[in-house]
Amino acid sequence: MKKKKKILILGGAGFIGFYLAKELEKKYNIVLIDDLSKNQKKIDNDLKKLIKKKNINFINKDITKTNLSEFPKNFDYIFDLAAILGVKKVIKESYITLKNNLKLTIKAIEIAKNQKNLKKVFFASSSEIYDGGGKTYKLRYPAKEFYPITINDLKHARTVYVTSKLTAEILYINSGLPYIIGRLHNIYGPRMGLSHVVPELISKFISKKKIVEVFSPNHSRTFCFYTDAIEIIKKLTLNSKIPKDIYNIGNPKNETKIRNLSFKISNFLKSKKKIKFVEDSHNSPSRRLPDMSKTNKFIKKTNYKNIEYGIEKTYLSIKFK
Ligand SMILES: NC(=O)c1ccc[n+]([C@@H]2O[C@H](COP(=O)([O-])OP(=O)(O)OC[C@H]3O[C@@H](n4cnc5c(N)ncnc54)[C@H](O)[C@@H]3O)[C@@H](O)[C@H]2O)c1
Repeated sequence: MKKKKKILILGGAGFIGFYLAKELEKKYNIVLIDDLSKNQKKIDNDLKKLIKKKNINFINKDITKTNLSEFPKNFDYIFDLAAILGVKKVIKESYITLKNNLKLTIKAIEIAKNQKNLKKVFFASSSEIYDGGGKTYKLRYPAKEFYPITINDLKHARTVYVTSKLTAEILYINSGLPYIIGRLHNIYGPRMGLSHVVPELISKFISKKKIVEVFSPNHSRTFCFYTDAIEIIKKLTLNSKIPKDIYNIGNPKNETKIRNLSFKISNFLKSKKKIKFVEDSHNSPSRRLPDMSKTNKFIKKTNYKNIEYGIEKTYLSIKFK
């Protein structure tokens, strides 16, 4: 019988890492490592079920505190997804975020370099990379991977997140590794926590509060349901013919203002609550829209789950948690 290939997922208990492991578990042997810092150190029922599978080995540990000798050297693929994220957390703990995210990237690269026959390492970067250049050069959306990048406001605490992603991209590019950098654009769905706009708004509409505050109503996004993102991440990384490079990952269709997103959620829930619109308070990007043509040269993806489908699935996961 052919031996199963081995995959390491850093940040494997998180939103994307969990679904990636679930998707790949039948064909690969998988090691997940995560310190559960996002989840208040708890292993939830979904994760408990997943890590019982015989092809999955879960290590509960802070990656920055691991030694290289703890890792086998026979991984075929590595997915580097571990990071501190979420606007409120990043702003509250800006110094720790930058320090830890950089340490995490350096450790991930060291682990990857230590492998005997690594085929690919995937790094999860962010659409936030485009915001500074978009504003400075009035670049036209959809955002293309070659657009110039600037970091505009060094003194805003939120800047640490984009700085960690940009530095990580440069580290990977210069690492000599067979990397795939994916710039993720608003991936959402069940089990992602409440710090993303879709689950956050749903939870506000079903909370006891009478008024729903909606921030940045005129900002626009395209929303990518997690199953579509997992499909792209998997195909980009596991296909040896796809060259090392930077690729956008997201839904290029149905750009929506946050205002309209809140109406869609309100209609879906048949909510009678009043909505109060509040202008941006966190220096958030006014637009996020990926140009998917470079990615589509290899992936050729045309069908994406629509937002109504995603709202329903996300709502059900929050309501019956
Ligand atoms: N979800 C999105 O829309 C989106 C958009 C852009 C970029 N990204 C990037 O994709 C990656 C995955 O995102 P996600 O939404 O799954 O986030 P997530 O927060 O659900 O997952 C990250 C995981 O990393 C773990 N982690 C953090 N520090 C760690 C440490 N020191 N040691 C071990 N584990 C640690 C956390 O506990 C968490 O489970 C992140 O790097 C994120 O920046 C996500």
